[in-house]
Amino acid sequence: NEENIILAIETSCDETAAAVIKNGTEILSNIVSTQIDSHKRFGGVVPEIASRHHVQQITIVLEEAFEQAKVTWDEIDAIAVTEGPGLVGALLIGVNAAKALAFVKEKPLIGVHHIAGHIYANRLQQEFEFPLLALIVSGGHTELVLMKEHGTYELIGETLDDAAGEAFDKVARTLRLPYPGGPHIDRLAHEGIAHIPFPRAWLEKGSYDFSFSGLKSAVINYVHNVQQRGDKVIVEDVAASFQASVVEVLTEKTFRAAIENGVNQVIVAGGVAANKGLRTSLKDRFQETKIPLFIPPIHLCTDNAAMIGAAASILFNEQKFSQWDLNGKPSLLL
Ligand code: KG4
Ligand code: ZN
Repeated sequence: NEENIILAIETSCDETAAAVIKNGTEILSNIVSTQIDSHKRFGGVVPEIASRHHVQQITIVLEEAFEQAKVTWDEIDAIAVTEGPGLVGALLIGVNAAKALAFVKEKPLIGVHHIAGHIYANRLQQEFEFPLLALIVSGGHTELVLMKEHGTYELIGETLDDAAGEAFDKVARTLRLPYPGGPHIDRLAHEGIAHIPFPRAWLEKGSYDFSFSGLKSAVINYVHNVQQRGDKVIVEDVAASFQASVVEVLTEKTFRAAIENGVNQVIVAGGVAANKGLRTSLKDRFQETKIPLFIPPIHLCTDNAAMIGAAASILFNEQKFSQWDLNGKPSLLL
């Protein structure tokens, strides 16, 4: 494998991020400017606001990432950027910044899939062992991906409706918790008792697919019924019961997929991988097996550019460069 230093950009949703990554494994700098506060009062990400923030922040985070990395432009081998999926107006800011830099500094350009990035966040912690199973759980994605070698992704399961993070955020909204709701549910869940029997969507026998919209509706109905009776909703118990349902399904399907596909490593990625209940449950479930399970530290689970640089390093080694027609692709497939 060639040595490489990559300057990476991520602007697919509500974080403006830039990082400098060496050989796909070493973080020289990793800068994230979050816009969460600007979207909070709307209860979700407002695409128009996201784009405007990216425009304001992109140069600042790029300069900071470059300076902190203590590298010269000569040492940088390529410019990488998330090309999709994500909000098109948000993606375009990163893609255009990357193109401008690549053009001016005469560097190759590398378009990276956002989910490949989330997966490769794990390689900043430890080397991959194939075949590998990745559970990706974020605001927009819930996927089980089988990897037999670097850069190849076989989608073996996915959500049929809401993403796990989306379910967390929608349930949080019902409970009148601030956006993004995942961390609040997580915190409250630890103070409550998971006694409410919310459904678990196992789907057809043997399926690795997920469904969270039924669970979300069950929680909303439960809360409305309690309120209609004039009783008080015990938010902690609702959070604990909802989280228990999500965590149980994610853990069991990941466990079964790992065993049935004979993998040598399981990795977890995406914002929901920050969930304490999920981290504990997966660790407990895999402890009894010989399959090593890895979950990145929380700052590498949520959106960042270090993960994009890590994924780009593989594309760099394979000389898979993008052309000047690189564009933001809102529903790019892995
Ligand atoms: O990966 P990410 O930062 O952005 C996307 O690509 O979607 O994931 C954001 C999602 C949000 O839905 C947020 O509520 C969820 O991750 N999240 C959590 C936790 N921290 C973030 N969900 C559950 N528990 C958490 N601790
Ligand atoms: Zn993400």
